[in-house]
Amino acid sequence: MLSYRHAFHAGNFADAFKHALLVQLIQALKAKDKPFRVFDTHAGAGRYDLDSALARKNSEFADGIGRLWRQSGLGCELNGYLERVRALNPDGNLRWYPGSPRLVRDLLRPTDRLVLSERHPNEFLHLKAEFSPDRQVEIHQADGYALLAALVPPPQRRGLVLIDPAYEFKGEFDRLVEAVRLIHRRWASGMIAIWYPILDRAPSLRFQRNLRESGIPAMLCAELGLYPYDGPSGLHGCGMIVINPPWRLEETLKRLLPELLRCLRVSQPGETRLEWLTPAL
Ligand SMILES: C[S@@+](CC[C@H](N)C(=O)[O-])C[C@H]1O[C@@H](n2cnc3c(N)ncnc32)[C@H](O)[C@@H]1O
Repeated sequence: MLSYRHAFHAGNFADAFKHALLVQLIQALKAKDKPFRVFDTHAGAGRYDLDSALARKNSEFADGIGRLWRQSGLGCELNGYLERVRALNPDGNLRWYPGSPRLVRDLLRPTDRLVLSERHPNEFLHLKAEFSPDRQVEIHQADGYALLAALVPPPQRRGLVLIDPAYEFKGEFDRLVEAVRLIHRRWASGMIAIWYPILDRAPSLRFQRNLRESGIPAMLCAELGLYPYDGPSGLHGCGMIVINPPWRLEETLKRLLPELLRCLRVSQPGETRLEWLTPAL
């Protein structure tokens, strides 16, 4: 049974990290005229009401987008992301937060496409309400991994697969490694971005080792740690692995990660990491 609801966490520091990076990836795809397709395999509800009881339960957004939203003098790497959030809140009050589908959709050109899958019946209904009718967006109530097996590679041969699971089930990291192998076998040039939580350090490091051993080239790993990894249980940080990253991403992240840390850190100094798990060919 699926019990995870992203509304509890929408706009928290992990979302800010993930979505700021995601905007960089989409902007890089738009640097060329050719159309592209984005697959968002674990789409969530599409947008979130930060005034809802779910979001207000722990108000996680207050330490994420709530901090970034009003800061001035931020590095330009955050502009694209913050502009999208501001566009949803034109009266200047932070109420609506864009999930990955809303963010990506708002950045597409008329020739680009977005394919979404979401298994949770409630989240799926929200997603449908958010995007129907929209001819550029295809929505499936389906297992995101099965959808990839059916739809990759896309006819455009340009694009991104975002995989952002809820990590509710044992074995998610193994499924991810299998999914990456499959995508790469069929679509070696496709960009893949996988978000992961850092709760206990060991599983995320094992995941990275397994990805390395797949022999797939060009894997860049970016992490943001806000709490000591050996501290009391909880979400200490998070990371994103980007396979076939855009050529300037590493340079951009060298500025973006410290900026996020500076804005989002709590009482601890925190840390960032940027490392090639496997080099580009
Ligand atoms: C972390 S949330 C997604 C958040 C979203 N990507 C965003 O950034 O706004 C993960 C979502 O995956 C859904 N989910 C869980 N297992 C799934 C599966 N096998 N296929 C598709 N969706 C799944 C959950 O219901 C949940 O809504």
